[in-house]
Amino acid sequence: MAVDLDKYLGREQSFIKHSFLTQYLQAAAYKVLQGRSPVFNFVDAFAGPWNVSDQNYSDASFDQALRTLDTVRGDLDRRGIGGLKIRFCFCEKRGEAVNELRAYAKQKGRFEIHVFHGSFEDHLDGISSACHDGFTFTFIDPTGWNMRSEPVFRFLRDQRGEFLLNFMAEHVNRHAEFPNVAASFGRFLADPDWEDDFNRLQSEWSNEQRVLYLLKKKVKATGAATYLPDFPIMKPRENRVKMRLILGTHSARGLEVFRDVQEKVERIEIETRNQLRTPSSQQVGLFSDSEIAALEQNITGVGCPMYQREAEQQIVACLTGRQFVPFSEITSSVLEAVPIRLTQLKELVGQLRARDLIAYDLPLRKRVPQPETRIRLGDPKIGERNF
Ligand SMILES: C[S@@+](CC[C@H](N)C(=O)[O-])C[C@H]1O[C@@H](n2cnc3c(N)ncnc32)[C@H](O)[C@@H]1O
Repeated sequence: MAVDLDKYLGREQSFIKHSFLTQYLQAAAYKVLQGRSPVFNFVDAFAGPWNVSDQNYSDASFDQALRTLDTVRGDLDRRGIGGLKIRFCFCEKRGEAVNELRAYAKQKGRFEIHVFHGSFEDHLDGISSACHDGFTFTFIDPTGWNMRSEPVFRFLRDQRGEFLLNFMAEHVNRHAEFPNVAASFGRFLADPDWEDDFNRLQSEWSNEQRVLYLLKKKVKATGAATYLPDFPIMKPRENRVKMRLILGTHSARGLEVFRDVQEKVERIEIETRNQLRTPSSQQVGLFSDSEIAALEQNITGVGCPMYQREAEQQIVACLTGRQFVPFSEITSSVLEAVPIRLTQLKELVGQLRARDLIAYDLPLRKRVPQPETRIRLGDPKIGERNF
């Protein structure tokens, strides 16, 4: 489902957020509904509507999710995979927004939609009961860091599904050191003593990096996710990170899909930012907007030389002190930490092998390592001699 940029004037970061949400949801729904479960639950935990410009809510997350998932269900139905069910839970704190959600749900009578009025943190049991079967995907999009995370992390752990959390990086960066927000950070990080850990982290890290590190550590410790890759969304007119979409998943395949979607949405983001700087009507040149965005992405985006170097360091760190590591473990470790796609990683691994930095034996008739392929450190001196 294409997201329409015109409705997002002045809040283009939400356009990127919604593009990512719908593209990831679409991939997740195809995967789940064709294998793991015939029921897919979508929970919009901080649903809004918030700052929408379309009275039909086509620029709100709940409507975009509904249309995306209904399209997937319809497509699978036409292909003979029937009996599928999509269930929606929308939770919102503000009364007037809840009234709009209820009117929306009434209008969409053919869907199973549960609307919850109040804090998400207070409705976790009700939402769990509504989503009593199937796979649950939870979208958590607070306006800042105002969330009591402890019960939320437990809810996510018990669901064993996936979630997308919008981490408001810019807000966090600005406020993390103010004493009057210490308690609210404690609630957000599910750790009242967060400041001690925060102060122990590397001083050259930004506030945002430190809070993000503590947040991910806590989510993993709770068991709410095994992997937590994130995608930074920039302020549309500045070179600063505005927010980060963090995926929580237990699935290595989820990581692959995340980086694939990131590459597509990152391209849209570069194009959008270029458009805002120089609208097409004022451009004179040989290349189209998307060609320019593609060139820029090759230099700074997913899988670019800088991220290849980061991936290389991560691979060496993974292998150091160990006889061998299965390629599947290298894949999840790199894809979680570094913006690189699996195909790009496979290519990189081939190059590192050619340089004798790493070594592995390929199975018969295979050109790239398989998940079980044993990767070991090589002897780079051999590579230097051959060079
Ligand atoms: C950023 S907006 C959501 C935007 C929406 N997800 C979208 O992308 O279209 C956050 C919403 O969460 C609501 N909210 C704030 N605290 C909440 C809480 N604890 N539980 C549920 N909703 C909350 C706000 O009223 C606001 O409507």
